[in-house]
Amino acid sequence: MQRILVTGGAGFIGSNFVHHLVEHTDASVTVLDKLTYAASRESIAGLPADRVSLVVGDIADPEVVAPLVDQHDAVVHYAAESHNDNSLNDPSPFVQTNLIGTFTILEAVRRAGVRLHHISTDEVYGDLELDDPARFTEATPYNPSSPYSSTKAGSDLLVRAWVRSFGVQATISNCSNNYGPWQHIEKFIPRQITNVIDGGRPKLYGAGQNVRDWIHADDHSSAVWTILNHGRIGDTYLIGADGEKNNLDVVRQILRHFGRADDDFDHVTDRAGHDLRYAIDSTKLRTELGWAPQFADFESGLARTIEWYVAHEDWWRPHKQSVEATYAKQGQ
Ligand code: NAD
Ligand code: DAU
Repeated sequence: MQRILVTGGAGFIGSNFVHHLVEHTDASVTVLDKLTYAASRESIAGLPADRVSLVVGDIADPEVVAPLVDQHDAVVHYAAESHNDNSLNDPSPFVQTNLIGTFTILEAVRRAGVRLHHISTDEVYGDLELDDPARFTEATPYNPSSPYSSTKAGSDLLVRAWVRSFGVQATISNCSNNYGPWQHIEKFIPRQITNVIDGGRPKLYGAGQNVRDWIHADDHSSAVWTILNHGRIGDTYLIGADGEKNNLDVVRQILRHFGRADDDFDHVTDRAGHDLRYAIDSTKLRTELGWAPQFADFESGLARTIEWYVAHEDWWRPHKQSVEATYAKQGQ
């Protein structure tokens, strides 16, 4: 049995990974999470207490991190400030958590000789033109646009340096946009679903032509588990499920699900520096490690996600008013 320390395991993707481990492996899990606004205890509540425990703490605090790392066989590092819009309003927690936090994790795994998998994003590569057939590969140069993506890029470079300079046993993955249960309603898909549940209109930044490459969070989890167990130390793997859609199409799909008209949405102020298109070529992960996504059909994955938000109104409702008030102040 492996003892896995999952940082950020009370957030969206981290909690999906913890559920994945409980269902598909015999690993025991410690979640290390600061429980910021983005976390929810409910996302990991009800899991077997002999398999999953929660430590509330900051990844940038070496006194919390070092003794915990010592007690585990591997660290899977999800914890981050994750929302681009927030990073435009106040970059400071992004620098602190994404850079200093990752540095703190690296120092702890270096001293303890513990395996690390670092979770990152396709946004480190910047963006692609809408009419460019190219997709990101592991060889694409880094070119991040926002305070969020630049701190994630910096954290990746720290990991690469700690592998080369200190022999840290680490791998990195850069994944595209995730959807699924437990995603905070500040993010695009859950914001629009909950707007429509409330009888309101989806809010599209700019013309809605920006493209994201959607993957279900459970497919991200299976890819991370594959890399943790079979990835080559020092290597980077791109994770994606060929799910390119523009934002307008996603909004229309949500509206159709609820029987609303295709044009029942608002165009709102665009995001500053808004990346045009992300697209992942995950050939390396598929051919070298044999991984394949299970949620190949975005339409049915989105329908299940919509039903999850309908059924879990008690979870997101307390946050809806304040999230919308923040967006309203920005003209979004
Ligand atoms: P999230 O914001 O939902 O969750 C982040 C979690 O990290 C929260 O539980 C939060 O409390 C915790 N956290 C934040 N600062 C912390 C600190 N200093 N110490 C301890 N815990 C802290 O984020 P998410 O969308 O689940 O993203 C998780 C990871 O996956 C991030 O590293 C992100 O860059 C990466 N990623 C996200 C996506 C996506 O589509 N959401 C895609 C690719 C990669
Ligand atoms: O690509 C991976 C990244 O995906 C992750 O690294 C980030 O952590 C994650 O938040 C996500 O970043 P995006 O900026 O792409 O996600 P977001 O949900 O904020 O927005 C998705 C798209 O929808 C983007 O083009 C902006 C647009 N958008 C967003 C919101 C919140 C809207 O049109 N309207 C909205 O209300």
